[in-house]
Amino acid sequence: MKIIVINGPNINLVGIREKNVYGEQNYAALCAFITKEAIKLGLEVEICQSNSEGALVDFVQNSLGCYDGIVINPAAYTHYSIALLDALKAVNLPAVEVHLSNVHAREEFRHTSITAPACIGQIAGFGFQGYAFALQALQVKLSE
Ligand code: DQA
Repeated sequence: MKIIVINGPNINLVGIREKNVYGEQNYAALCAFITKEAIKLGLEVEICQSNSEGALVDFVQNSLGCYDGIVINPAAYTHYSIALLDALKAVNLPAVEVHLSNVHAREEFRHTSITAPACIGQIAGFGFQGYAFALQALQVKLSE
């Protein structure tokens, strides 16, 4: 099973930005964690990140025919990107939305996810571990 992990704007700054919210570990550590968890599960994984909405739409579109599932942290675009919602719906691959922080315990504007309705589920509030949960969830779904 081949999974693409797509990270949105400012996720590359974990370990630098709002450490009280996103933790002390940097983006390289996040990528290493995801890779290690994928290997444990016997999944092939590719990780990508962009700060730009169009590039994220391209990552989602280009997943079609190349990957079996998507793990996506759309970051701030979660809360307003109809383009990403449409892209996820268009490719119709099983997708799991991940947030490092518990968005539901934060500002009200973070309680709404525009993209989650196109996903099989959402995982929020478990830090890096959320990506491992998302990979497991996709593996279960893809084995059904
Ligand atoms: C985030 C939550 C979003 O609200 C925020 O804009 C981010 C990161 C998270 O992983 O907790 O950039 O997606």
